[in-house]
Amino acid sequence: MFTLIATLLTAEPYIELREQARTLLQAECGSCHTRGLETAKPKALAVFDLTRSEFADGMTLEQLESAQWRLASDLKENEQPRAVSKAEQALFKRFAEAALLRRKR
Ligand code: HEC
Repeated sequence: MFTLIATLLTAEPYIELREQARTLLQAECGSCHTRGLETAKPKALAVFDLTRSEFADGMTLEQLESAQWRLASDLKENEQPRAVSKAEQALFKRFAEAALLRRKR
């Protein structure tokens, strides 16, 4: 019963967090990690694909950490400058933690 209530209480914020993370990743990483785009890269899609509802499900802990590191980097994958705010970095970190917790259930 407690687990059920806890699940109900946390389900909605998780989805909200996931969708905020998706929006951030679409802007920063979407060109290569979105299936269907001409610029999408098969190897990038194999890591995560933003068109998948649970896009982080196949990512390892190392890949989730790498994603945080990439978002914090001031250079994009194509060497162009990147500026992701501390608040957005914190948002992704919360999402990564929530996604890992969700898997353990
Ligand atoms: C220009 C294309 C491109 C962009 C933009 C891009 N990626 Fe990727 N990404 C790739 C490709 C290709 C691979 C697979 C090959 C490799 O490992 O480099 C990959 C692999 C990865 C991996 C697995 C390898 C690792 O580092 O552990 C992660 C995690 C990742 N990307 C996260 C991101 C995040 C987060 C962003 C945005 C901040 C991003 N990528 C933006 C092309 C891109």
